[in-house]
Amino acid sequence: MPFDRSIKIAPSILAADFANFGAECAAVEAQGADWIHVDVMDGHFVPNITFGPATCAAIRPHIKGVMDVHLMIAPVDPFIDAFADAGADVLTAHVEAGPHIHRTLQAIRGAGMKAGVALNPGTPASAVAEVMDMVDLICVMTVNPGFGGQKFIDMTTKIKTLRDMIGDRPVHIEIDGGVDPKTAPLVAQAGADVLVAGSAVFRGGSVDDPTPYGNNIRAIREAALGVWT
Ligand code: DX5
Ligand code: ZN
Repeated sequence: MPFDRSIKIAPSILAADFANFGAECAAVEAQGADWIHVDVMDGHFVPNITFGPATCAAIRPHIKGVMDVHLMIAPVDPFIDAFADAGADVLTAHVEAGPHIHRTLQAIRGAGMKAGVALNPGTPASAVAEVMDMVDLICVMTVNPGFGGQKFIDMTTKIKTLRDMIGDRPVHIEIDGGVDPKTAPLVAQAGADVLVAGSAVFRGGSVDDPTPYGNNIRAIREAALGVWT
């Protein structure tokens, strides 16, 4: 997985047909998705439950590119090896999920995955200052995690602060929540390179009619890139 700071669109399968994940992943990839974002929720760290490592393992063969697994669970550490075995390329844990984010990030890299750390909207950039050399990705939540389709919360100042903190390290800034063609330029301009989008990608399409997925992905990408042209 070579480092690439260009804009990447990562559809969140939280907005896909839960009875058809394999075909949905293949469909959005064929329509131009760069990464596939997989939201794992435990009903404890966040007020919703999705699925765990067994489902990730089942989805994996249907994804050609990067499987980006976002853990909204606490604790994290007992499950790291299971997500490595499931084939996650990037495994992201929340800094708020426990007292030992340093240990968690070490364990994620130790299990052979890229390590991500996520920050809730109420958590400042400084919360990850001491782990900057241990992460491959910082996920800035622009909604309170737990549900798709929520309203975007502007975290532009935090994104810019993180971009300065990252300096020339090969660390992605990912934005998760409420990303659409209107909000994408704001976060891209602030320094983000991975844009997660659930409802804004899957709306209007289906596995049998995937063209809207491609149009939606293109609209987000062009809006994000537009800031540079
Ligand atoms: C929220 C999840 C997001 C969510 C984004 O807890 O982490 O990945 O699916 O969905 P939209 O793009 O609909 O806000
Ligand atoms: Zn997510």
